[in-house]
Amino acid sequence: MRTIDWVDGAVVIVDQTRLPHEVVWLRLSTVDALIDAIQRLAVRGAPALGVAGAMGVALAARSSADPSVVAGLVHRIETARPTAVNLARGAGRAAAVLPSAAAALEVALRIRDEEIHSSTEMARLGADLVTSLCGASVRLLTHCNTGALATVVGGTALAVAFELHRRGTLGGVIASETRPLLQGARLTTWELARAGVPHRLAVDSAGPFLMARGEVDAVILGADRICANGDVVNKVGSYAHALGARAAGIPFICVAPESTVDLSTPSGAEVEIEDRGAAEIVGSTAPPGTAAVNPAFDVTPASLVTAIVTDTRVWHP
Ligand code: MRU
Repeated sequence: MRTIDWVDGAVVIVDQTRLPHEVVWLRLSTVDALIDAIQRLAVRGAPALGVAGAMGVALAARSSADPSVVAGLVHRIETARPTAVNLARGAGRAAAVLPSAAAALEVALRIRDEEIHSSTEMARLGADLVTSLCGASVRLLTHCNTGALATVVGGTALAVAFELHRRGTLGGVIASETRPLLQGARLTTWELARAGVPHRLAVDSAGPFLMARGEVDAVILGADRICANGDVVNKVGSYAHALGARAAGIPFICVAPESTVDLSTPSGAEVEIEDRGAAEIVGSTAPPGTAAVNPAFDVTPASLVTAIVTDTRVWHP
């Protein structure tokens, strides 16, 4: 199963808003439909967004012969979500070969294939690193969803867990539920169960305590943007896990492809953090009209990061 692919002239994705209860495939044949899917997180996760962005440019180029119309569509794709660098970067790579729609599609398919290859490499490098740091039978805590659903196949941090499981050296995974949209509770547990990986679900705020209690050997998660100084921008809650890992004296490992490394952004302070508004967290729980602050991501400073594993290297920022 590929989370995102190009099939017969359209982008086909698994609708992640419907998981884990049902597997629904969406066929996106217009830029509007693609942007809507990106913004409501039907397709999500940095590498998958890179592929979506590039395929979106192919859709844009096929929809109009007017360069200014296509440029407007490309801009809307690039800015559909601001934090993961992959989205604008993927769209930008495909846009660089316009006006040819065929060439843009070729670039999009190349990005898809690069991400598939990256996933395999990160799994291998990450599993080697975790084993060298923690030995056999390692117990991991992960946050958000970094599996096949966030990429095309395989994953980033979760691909490392799958690889350790395959090698017989995984002692289990704690999936942090990832408030408010519950990517950990809905998606990571679904992927781990399908792969037969032993796992338990925990509320986000339990993470640092579980580390302090000795139930976690390493924290492993992904990134939406890795800055030039090694700051890691990832799903909100990552920073708390990093502080917990430092207090407990265990490694905090980030796994992300080179396509997520953004050397043009000096540090996390320069990254636009998406705020997804009050409705997602106020919902029916708080009194109607309650004001809210809802950053979808946070910044873990490089000083708290033990290692960043990409598809080509292990970086100790
Ligand atoms: O808001 P999301 O679900 O798109 O956020 C995704 C994450 O934060 C992931 O951890 C990140 O993209 C890395 S996944 C390979």
